[in-house]
Amino acid sequence: MNPNLDALQPYPFERLAALQRGVRPDPALTPISLSIGEPRHAPPDQVVQQLRDTLGELDRYPATRGTLELRTAISEWLIHRFALPPASIDPERNVLPVNGTREALFSFVQCATGPDSTRPGVAMPNPFYQIYEGAALLAGQRPVFYDAHTCDFAGLSEATLRRIQLIFVCTPGNPTGQVLQVEALQQLLELAHRYDFVIASDECYSEIYFDEDRPPASLLAAAAANGDPEFSRCMVFHSLSKRSNLPGLRSGFVAGDAALIAGFLKYRTYHGCAMSLPVQRASIAAWRDEHHVTENRALYRRKFAEAMHVLGGKLDVEHPEAGFFLWPRIPGDDVEFARRLYAATAVTVLPGQFLARDAGQGNPGRGRVRMALVASREECRTALERVVDFLG
Ligand SMILES: Cc1ncc(COP(=O)(O)O)c(C=O)c1O
Repeated sequence: MNPNLDALQPYPFERLAALQRGVRPDPALTPISLSIGEPRHAPPDQVVQQLRDTLGELDRYPATRGTLELRTAISEWLIHRFALPPASIDPERNVLPVNGTREALFSFVQCATGPDSTRPGVAMPNPFYQIYEGAALLAGQRPVFYDAHTCDFAGLSEATLRRIQLIFVCTPGNPTGQVLQVEALQQLLELAHRYDFVIASDECYSEIYFDEDRPPASLLAAAAANGDPEFSRCMVFHSLSKRSNLPGLRSGFVAGDAALIAGFLKYRTYHGCAMSLPVQRASIAAWRDEHHVTENRALYRRKFAEAMHVLGGKLDVEHPEAGFFLWPRIPGDDVEFARRLYAATAVTVLPGQFLARDAGQGNPGRGRVRMALVASREECRTALERVVDFLG
């Protein structure tokens, strides 16, 4: 077996299951999970219907690059959503469908990095989405961490910049909810050109934001603002999982630099991960509709307003800029807090240190927990009221 498999860390949910093993909360309390970021709002009817209506197309092999119709729908969505120059996204050169961003974030690293002993690094935020780390390790690369709370790219050392082949950014961030502004992304792009590395921008939470007048930016918009309509060294990752409440559809896309897309297409042809035609049809319907996305955001907005009201003054928590996570500081140790909270209230939260690594200055997730407000309003409210009772 590949010896790099031994370097993989247990997934946060495995650690959480181990933490809860043998703990028996009061059976009168309905268990509520705030730990998994699986959207539970309703998916759009017309998308599900489209999937049903096109099941007959399962009798054909789909092409890895997807249909032109899907790539066109995605290109139009990107240009409109991020105010990119007209026709800057060519559906033939700049876009590929992927089966959710998770597989793409993983496989892109296998394809975009190579054996270069002088540059064995992949940089990533800390705390992070653990796939970044696993992807780097299985590609034989060394993870290099930067602080996800500050995202101070200008503060990356010369040695780090010279050592990395790729950097992950996550905007809006999981778990921090922080949004990178265009200026920060422009600054990172300048470094990428100077030191010759690729930027993989995980933007799967880009459609979950709270101020309709201030949608999060994309790395592609930063490249365009830098006067680079070719999006050199850029790859962005988008998904229908959060935007359209379709985590089970496994549908997303990557977009960016045509040379990176061409290499990734070659890789994927061998990897064998084409998207089935009914999923492509459903995805077209989803990318072409914004109404359900606006409604989805309105629901999150109400839930977060309610959450801040319930928790206000009782927990050290800020309203996130975007995304659907709360990332509060809690009194004491986060692992112990999560275990005791579950025992007392049957509410599951994820200890912050499970989402981060000690990269020399302590684990930046320590003393925080992640709460995903994905369940119904009522369930979220009940869970947070139980948290407040527990704190009291
Ligand atoms: C930061 C981040 N990136 C990517 C993903 C993967 O999402 P999907 O594969 O459903 O597109 C998730 C899922 O939770 C996530 O939190």
